[in-house]
Parts: sequence; C-alpha cells; structure tokens
Amino acid sequence: MLPPIVIGITGASGARYAVRLIEVLLRAGQEVHLSISPSGREVIRQEMGLEVDLDAFRPEMLLGASGEGVLRYHPYQDFMAPIASGSFVTGGMVVCPCSGTTLSAIAAGASGNLIQRAAEVHLKERRRLVLVPRETPLSLPTMDNMRRAHQAGAVLLPASPGWYHGVNRVDDLVDFVVARILDQLEIKNELIPRWGDAP
Ligand SMILES: Cc1cc2nc3c(=O)[nH]c(=O)nc-3n(C[C@H](O)[C@H](O)[C@H](O)COP(=O)(O)O)c2cc1C
Repeated sequence: MLPPIVIGITGASGARYAVRLIEVLLRAGQEVHLSISPSGREVIRQEMGLEVDLDAFRPEMLLGASGEGVLRYHPYQDFMAPIASGSFVTGGMVVCPCSGTTLSAIAAGASGNLIQRAAEVHLKERRRLVLVPRETPLSLPTMDNMRRAHQAGAVLLPASPGWYHGVNRVDDLVDFVVARILDQLEIKNELIPRWGDAP
C-alpha cells in the first residue's frame, strides 16, 4: 500500500478516466485526496451528466453508490489543505484529465490554485506526478509545456488508449488508460490483459 494518492480533475475532456481511476484506487484500499477545478466540474456534467457541488462535495456525487474507501476532498482554492505542503507525504499525484491551462501552469511552476500547487509540490519533492492531457491536435505552446513539465520530472501520459487488448466496450478503452496510470504509480492491477500474457 502506498501513502495517499492525490488526484486533480481539471477541465479537459475525459472525466470518465478520473472517475474510474478513483474507483479502482479506493477499491484497492488506497487513500485518495481529490480536488476538482470549476472547469473540471463542467466537463463532468457535460460528459457524465453528474452534478458535483464543489462547495459541498460528497463522494456519491462522483462515484454513485459504488463509493467506498477513504476519499478526502479539498476545495480548489483551499491552500490550507494538507496536499498544499511537501510535509504531507504522498505516493504521487495524477492530474486526470489535465487541461492545457493546468499543464501550462505546472510547466511554469505557477501555483494559482490547489491542483497547481499540489503538482508543484510533487515536482519540488521529486515525487511521482502523472499528467493526463487529452488535447488533439497539439499546438507548439502545448508541446513546449509538455517538454518543460517532462524535464521538471512529470510523466506525460496522454489519454490515448491502445486498441490491441481486445476492445469490446468503451470501458475497455478507459481501463487501458487507467491501467497505464496505475503502472506509473506502481500499483498492481489487472484491468487489461498485458502484451505477452497468454490469451
Ligand atoms: C466540455 C469541455 C471540454 C473541454 N475539453 C478540453 C480539453 O480536452 N483540453 C483542454 O485543454 N481544455 C478543454 N476545455 C477547456 C478548459 O476547460 C479551459 O481551458 C479551462 O480554463 C481549464 O481550466 P482548469 O485547468 O483550471 O480546469 C474544455 C472545456 C469544456 C467546457
């Protein structure tokens, strides 16, 4: 079991990846600290039809009845939250999905909100930071920001699912990306068959 995992949900397309990631982490007994940007809430509403109240968050709003385990929510501007400090030890952070706005802030070392601050903390403490952008095509500024974030120590893990693991449902594509994120966190998972596994 790792120390708590930090998840930031920002306003890029792909909210389902984040929800599935949180479900799997909680089911694995992993404590999760979560913050959601206002744009992230809008995308959750648009893509999943869920109403998430950022000022009065309850896990059921995001996870439905399947919510279990220890999920600690921190409002997006709450710099008093433990994840704003390097003294709070974590097992890593995932920004999923990661908007171009948040990517740009992380690449620049800006800490304009709690998600950006927690990401900056992970970089300075040399802890795992996984960024999951979705954008396509990519502009030169976005590619430059990806390069800078990578050089600072982040892992850029685009939401680009492979199609070689026997895809029958949308959930298989979601699980492909979530499995790759879990691999980066070194959390054991069998969400998808691995290349080389016996069929
Ligand atoms: C439905 C919807 C989908 C969006 N998808 C993306 C996206 O895939 N990538 C991206 O960089 N921005 C996307 N945006 C725009 C961001 O939400 C916007 O740039 C915002 O400033 C991001 O702020 P945040 O990083 O604090 O969440 C989307 C916005 C909406 C409403």
